[in-house]
Amino acid sequence: MTKHALIMGILALAVACRGDAPQGPVEQAVAALTAEFDGSYPMEVRHQGGEREYDLVAAPAVIPMFDGRPFSVWAYNGQVPGPVLRAKVGERVRVRFTNRLPEDTTVHWHGVRVPNAMDGVPGVTQPPVAPGESFVYEFVPKDAGTFWFHPHLRSSEQVERGLFGVLIVEDADPLPYTREVIWVIDDWRLGQDGAIDPRFNTPGDLMHDGRWGNVVTVNGRVQEVLEVHPGERLRLRLLNTANGRVFAPDFSGLDASVIAVDGLYTPRPLPPAGFELSPGNRLDLDVTIPSDWAGREIQIIDRFSRRPFVLATIRVGGDAVPTPAFPSAAQAYVPAWRDGLGVPLAQSFDLSNERGGPFGILWTLNGVAHVGHADMKPSAELPLGRFARLRFGNLSYRLHPIHIHGMFFKVLARDGSPVDEPFWRDTALVHPRETVDIGLVPVDAGDWMLHCHILEHAEAGMMTTIRVGPGGQPPPAGAGTSSHRGDGAHGANAEPRRRRASATSHRHTRAGTPGTCARTRASRSSGSHPRRAGGLGRSRGRRASGTPGRRRRGSPLEPGRGRRAPRAAERSSASRRRAA
Ligand code: C2O
Ligand code: CU
Repeated sequence: MTKHALIMGILALAVACRGDAPQGPVEQAVAALTAEFDGSYPMEVRHQGGEREYDLVAAPAVIPMFDGRPFSVWAYNGQVPGPVLRAKVGERVRVRFTNRLPEDTTVHWHGVRVPNAMDGVPGVTQPPVAPGESFVYEFVPKDAGTFWFHPHLRSSEQVERGLFGVLIVEDADPLPYTREVIWVIDDWRLGQDGAIDPRFNTPGDLMHDGRWGNVVTVNGRVQEVLEVHPGERLRLRLLNTANGRVFAPDFSGLDASVIAVDGLYTPRPLPPAGFELSPGNRLDLDVTIPSDWAGREIQIIDRFSRRPFVLATIRVGGDAVPTPAFPSAAQAYVPAWRDGLGVPLAQSFDLSNERGGPFGILWTLNGVAHVGHADMKPSAELPLGRFARLRFGNLSYRLHPIHIHGMFFKVLARDGSPVDEPFWRDTALVHPRETVDIGLVPVDAGDWMLHCHILEHAEAGMMTTIRVGPGGQPPPAGAGTSSHRGDGAHGANAEPRRRRASATSHRHTRAGTPGTCARTRASRSSGSHPRRAGGLGRSRGRRASGTPGRRRRGSPLEPGRGRRAPRAAERSSASRRRAA
């Protein structure tokens, strides 16, 4: 046993022996679940030295997009997608942000566990950044992985106009992939004139699954082609930055495994089949191109929409390169939390809607809509460093990818049945009429947003905050005492529960918690689509019935009526599917 493990053991013992040690069965169960979290993503990361300074300017711009024609956007540093910011885990990131937009904005670091004051939420963590003003965002990333940033103010318009960028937090010792590829997946709704349709937050968008575009892009290009050599081993980082569209990229033609979800490494390489990449989600793949594949072309098809379409193409050519051999980075410790459903809910959220508000429809959490972050008061208080179970009950017939800032969670059950989803998320899609239970141990104090990442739903009120820390019950003794070390001194081998030593995951030490698609094609494929999937997705064949109206015209609460007119084609293909 290493010194670190020894200290943790003594600490755990000390906690167990304290007068306030768990008494009732519920307390004991919570304590056990909390202890099971120990060894997951770290509570603290010490600044390891190293600074990354970036200037970030949001401003209107005209840039070549799609087929290269000039296109008016709002952009970070004149690019769409915005710049890729990079830092190593444990380095300090300082972003001097300036707003040159005609309206207020903020920058939110999606999925990054930043100090609460750096979270970029207007009225909650900072005042809005007015036109001409600046704000300096500063944080030390605690988790290596794929993250992104975007405005958190009028985001249904600002993100759609082009404001989003990627933040890559590198491992302390990055693995020797032959190359890293980032695919920022997005869609755009263009008008007849080929410009961004300036009608935002339309009743149709609000009533349905947000603004689905009629052009899908990868890195701002339609029909993205990636040229690779035989033998290459790639780290492919996928991000969905769309306002509302969900993607389900089919990688079955490739030798690919998922190594990270929403930034964090998975416990083992997972088959990518069926993962639903909803707005906000990220997926990292480890892809090997066999050395005898010269001349091949692999199409990555999106299968979420009713009409599958080509998202991107991988073209293999040129001389074969040696394939680097190294163990998969997917070796994180993620608690199983098999008993997570056994403890009472800390909070349950009904996802629903009602008439009213500036858009004519309000999207609500437990009957409350916070339009434009107005008067945000915490709707739950969670104690720091203690297991909590939350529930999202979707009373509507629309999709709601629920995102929580400042923490990761694990899906425990869908519709009451336990699901084996062995990885962390910061965003989980709650399907129409579905109930999703999640488990989490919040380790960062503050008021954190919880909202739907369909940006139109969020703008129309589907937002709230949850308070972690002092407002909740006191953290268990010892929480936060084990500060994370990013220098690898507490290597993977020091972790009793870690599966194997890992070149990349050894920084994830103890948490310190003892206890074109062608335009027409794309437009036809819009709309919510109740996809069932195995693998990373939902278990195959579930909900085969029980969501009767999703494919038909329907109001958000009522199956059967009100869907947008141009979807006849979808309806017929939907009936075919239903018949199948
Ligand atoms: Cu990506 Cu609160 O957002
Ligand atoms: Cu929603």
